[in-house]
Amino acid sequence: MKIAVLGAAGGIGQPLSLLLKMHLPAGSELALYDPAPMTRGVAVDLSHIPTAVRVKGYTGRDPDAALEGADIVLIPAGIARKPGMERSDLFKFNAGIVMDLVQHCARCCPAALIALITNPVNSMVPVAAEVLKLAGVYDARRLFGLTTLDVVRSESFCASDERPEALPVQGVIPVVGGHSGNTIIPLFSHLGGELGDDAAIAERIRRVQQAGTDVVDAKAGAGSATLAMAYAALRFCLSLLRARQGELGIIECAYVEGGHAAAPFFSQRVRLGVDGVAEVLSYAPIHPVEQAAIDAMLPGLNEEIRQGIDFVRQLM
Ligand code: NAI
Repeated sequence: MKIAVLGAAGGIGQPLSLLLKMHLPAGSELALYDPAPMTRGVAVDLSHIPTAVRVKGYTGRDPDAALEGADIVLIPAGIARKPGMERSDLFKFNAGIVMDLVQHCARCCPAALIALITNPVNSMVPVAAEVLKLAGVYDARRLFGLTTLDVVRSESFCASDERPEALPVQGVIPVVGGHSGNTIIPLFSHLGGELGDDAAIAERIRRVQQAGTDVVDAKAGAGSATLAMAYAALRFCLSLLRARQGELGIIECAYVEGGHAAAPFFSQRVRLGVDGVAEVLSYAPIHPVEQAAIDAMLPGLNEEIRQGIDFVRQLM
């Protein structure tokens, strides 16, 4: 398997590449691309870790050599938030980057699974879908917006200093909707048991929605979430790999096209297979507070989707 990371020299790209070097199956190939000149150095550095994963760094303006023959492409390329910014503020910087990189994917590895990390994910996945459609290689099963960080945070927030053992089983809490502000809807009702009153449920949802901004503020201008994000991307990538190698019953949440009546793109639980999404799974039944949160955010999510689609259509 060949895994390409585009944006590999960045705040997410570097720890993600380290984790991939440590955890990819023996014999895998890791291709690291970033226009930053240090990228080859990142690859040389990682190559000194004694695991049976081949690492190569690529820089310059053209990612084609990194993408040639890739099975999975992870894209954490682009600008990250600073304090005071919303994810949507990144659109004008990152849409062009994603469009360009996905055009290269369409040419060099049209059958690859593509996982987009770049924000705003809610708009970037529609951008990528339009680009792939124009190139005639779009298959909704193979394009993902990465929302695993929201799942990881929801799991972490179940535990506390007083109750570190309260971590739920991995994957039990789905996070649906999208990946920005109020579009992030963790479904804690899937845990079962006592949830507290409506205000307590709303507060748990709000904490997950706010978590990215908490990291941005705490880093005080030095970037957004990178380390937990790298962990989340590793977890998602390993699931894609296991499913691609024929393992059954692999379920993750991801922002994908199709499977939801109220928005063309929606983050939901998907069963993964050899070709990407094998089945979109229902997340019903849920608590009325969770349903109200979904209903309230749908107009905004649809607007972000429309922005991504229009961006590509206006240029082409
Ligand atoms: P960063 O600024 O540290 O790194 C971005 C990297 O992208 C840089 O090394 C830069 O050289 C590279 N880059 C720029 N243009 C490129 C191009 N055309 N091709 C390839 N690489 C290019 O940013 P960081 O912290 O790594 O974040 C990256 C993105 O991930 C941001 O948009 C951020 O908002 C997003 N993000 C997404 C999360 C999610 O849950 N999906 C969570 C956290 C961040």
